[in-house]
Amino acid sequence: MVSASVKDVAALAGVSVGTVSNVLNRPEKVSVEVTARVQSAIDKLGFVRNDAARQLRAGMSHSIGLVVLDSANPFFTDLARGAEDRAAAENFTVLVGNSNEDAARESAYLDLFEQQRVRGVLLSPVGNVIPRLEQLRRRGIPTVLVDRQTENMSFSSVAVDDLAGGEMAVAHLLSLGRRRIAFVGGPESIRQVADRLSGARKAIDAVAGATLEVIATESLTVLSGRAAGESIRFRPEAERPDAIFAANDLLAVGVLQGLMLLGGVKVPQEIALIGYDDIEFAAAAVVPLSSIRQPSALIGSTALELLLREAAAEDGFQPTQVVFPPELIVRASTQG
Ligand code: RIB
Repeated sequence: MVSASVKDVAALAGVSVGTVSNVLNRPEKVSVEVTARVQSAIDKLGFVRNDAARQLRAGMSHSIGLVVLDSANPFFTDLARGAEDRAAAENFTVLVGNSNEDAARESAYLDLFEQQRVRGVLLSPVGNVIPRLEQLRRRGIPTVLVDRQTENMSFSSVAVDDLAGGEMAVAHLLSLGRRRIAFVGGPESIRQVADRLSGARKAIDAVAGATLEVIATESLTVLSGRAAGESIRFRPEAERPDAIFAANDLLAVGVLQGLMLLGGVKVPQEIALIGYDDIEFAAAAVVPLSSIRQPSALIGSTALELLLREAAAEDGFQPTQVVFPPELIVRASTQG
């Protein structure tokens, strides 16, 4: 059964469509007698107003668009949940898209969210999206960058200091007496990866005799980590690193599998291992993983809060860059 329209209600009540709209949106403009006639027609026809269409027409959508780099990564699941919880408190919903670290997919989601007239966008960016975000803002849709610091101070952003996080991870490995460090991660086109590597280099430079080998990966996944771990296991012992910093925990879980398969390498005795994010799989790994914790849910809720403030601001909104400190979580993979 097709649901009744405003026109059907107007015809049954013997009034104009504009009068029905007034009864629904500006009841103070309609007499008691006409309101009763219209309400009776609404009840008889089972008319249900289409709030989404009304919100879209009024440009007052109660949806927020969120584009994450990898929806399979629990870090982003936790970030999205933080944003959703904060949004629900303000009667907003969050539409989540996965760019899968692909600039074309990211662009398609930004187009979709613009068509949907979302109230704002949260974005963990893949490419150089600033021009597109400036266009969105000119069209009334603000953006807050998540999981990414930005030099472009015209956009708010919420992230962890990945430079400090990378330095913290490698300084921890060096504090164990390890000196042949390997960094496993990539692509470096992802700003988070590049910053963590820069931080790692800074820690290495502070210790005489310490070396850093970069084992680049095509993605930040368990499979990429496992391939890197196996490549290290296949090496002669003397050519292996004595510690590994993986750019995120999914890689670290894969590296652990690749190293330990067939009783290959003992972690941490032969090779210490640390990841980044402190997702729940880190603590649950067969050798509980040390990691650099990111307050993922707090990143999401803070970004949502900034976005709602900018969306509500009439003009002259001052963008804010929030940078949380990283936190070292020590577990079995770097003890002993
Ligand atoms: O998506 C890549 C990584 O960047 C995630 O694992 C998380 O660390 C984010 O900061």
